[in-house]
Amino acid sequence: MANPPLIILTGAGISAESGLATFRGHGGLWAGHKVEDVATPQAFARDPEMVHGFYNARRAQLRDPAVQPNPAHHALARLVAAWPAPALLVTQNVDDLHHRAMPDQLDRLLPMHGSLRRIRCTRCSQVADWEDDLATDTPCPGCGNTGGLRPDIVWFGEMPMGMDRIEAALEQCRLFLSIGTSGLVYPAAGFVAALSGVARTVELNLEPSAGSHLFDEAHHGPATEVVPRFVDALLASLR
Ligand code: APR
Repeated sequence: MANPPLIILTGAGISAESGLATFRGHGGLWAGHKVEDVATPQAFARDPEMVHGFYNARRAQLRDPAVQPNPAHHALARLVAAWPAPALLVTQNVDDLHHRAMPDQLDRLLPMHGSLRRIRCTRCSQVADWEDDLATDTPCPGCGNTGGLRPDIVWFGEMPMGMDRIEAALEQCRLFLSIGTSGLVYPAAGFVAALSGVARTVELNLEPSAGSHLFDEAHHGPATEVVPRFVDALLASLR
């Protein structure tokens, strides 16, 4: 059989062993807030300093030299580079660890929830790379206005990025890997059901996710162990 078009979906669990807390696991609360109470347009309208504080803390972690791509990110970079059919890595993560692990293949990487390292101006719509803290009085590098900058991140109730490309890839997909995601946040949580009976679907996660029963196959354990092992076996099976 020809090698199948591949989609890899990742979530916060793949970055846990790089030192970044997941959203719903132990340590996932931020200053006592659930992510669903911080990552919304309503929260930003009500208390922008609080929302900036949440993302400033997460952005600061990415500047920590100890936070680096781990063997799971590197294994997926190898898989995408070697895969002899169309391959798309869709990540729900807003960290930049996949970017760092596969800098030569960014055209195969789709961060559907945006990026911590980008800002967007709600006044002039400019998107810019951003490394530092953000505050309500930070001027936009494009129009100079203050008060309009927000993280270029998809909040609850907003449309994920790249959905046209994802839907086109889902139509072609015959092998689907879901890695380190709790399967609770849509639309990503719905990909496995959409592919049921059409693609070989595989879950790689620390524990069974909410939709674990929907997968053809599951391997549970830490991402830095199960992902490289699975990728190596998959690449060895290529002919
Ligand atoms: N290896 C593999 N999986 C792990 C590891 C690990 N070391 N540690 C945790 N996990 C698993 C958890 O068991 C859980 O199923 O990763 C999953 C993380 O789930 P969530 O914290 O819910 O993260 P995610 O699924 O990415 O959240 C989806 O929700 O908050 C929003 O927009 C945000 O993109 C995020 C989305």
